[in-house]
Amino acid sequence: MLIKTAEFVMSNSDVAKCPKDQLPEYAFIGRSNVGKSSLINMLTNHKNLAKTSGRPGKTQLINHFLINKNWFLVDLPGYGYAKVSKSAKKKFQKLITDYFEKRQQLVNAFVLVDIRHEPQKIDLEFMEYLGVSEIPFSIIFTKADKLKPKAIERNVKAYTDELLKTWEETPAYFITSSTSSAGRDEVLQSIDDINKEINSLKQN
Ligand code: GTP
Ligand code: MG
Repeated sequence: MLIKTAEFVMSNSDVAKCPKDQLPEYAFIGRSNVGKSSLINMLTNHKNLAKTSGRPGKTQLINHFLINKNWFLVDLPGYGYAKVSKSAKKKFQKLITDYFEKRQQLVNAFVLVDIRHEPQKIDLEFMEYLGVSEIPFSIIFTKADKLKPKAIERNVKAYTDELLKTWEETPAYFITSSTSSAGRDEVLQSIDDINKEINSLKQN
């Protein structure tokens, strides 16, 4: 899919104030510093559309980006970083759970996990939470540029093996790097497929 336009629309601390448009939206979620904002910049081919930082906790609000005037990418704050304040540390912050529970326009969540690490409890719990909430999701492995192909293969296998202990089948997953743009076409294709499916449902 060609990205023709990508525009920042608004930042919000209140889900009720998010855009009223009935456009499909795709949210990026995961631990702080996993690379959510960088991935949005990589997908849209814009260096500074979403704000990134080497220090965890950069994104603190719900950020809507309108793509091709037709659908939204949503950058969310991270969860589970140990150094944020105690109230923010509650397993998944209220802003995040509010978003996932109330946002009708959400059609798919992308759960980002750092490909270098073993499966982390908080990510597995978040996927469990999405499952129970009946929110479709896919996994995006980030920072693939930091590992050699063999290690990527090994870690992805370890991850999917872990998931299969609780899930009947593994969700769709993508191996990406925001520095090399690996995985860009695949993630955009999956969004395009869902958008097309939604459009065809609307027409019938
Ligand atoms: P919060 O907003 O704090 O939750 O973090 P985030 O998940 O949005 O992470 P962000 O995109 O700000 O990236 C965190 C750090 O990881 C930055 O220093 C990025 O440059 C780096 N980073 C993100 N993606 C990649 C990647 O694919 N490869 C490499 N090598 N570094 C990355
Ligand atoms: Mg961020």
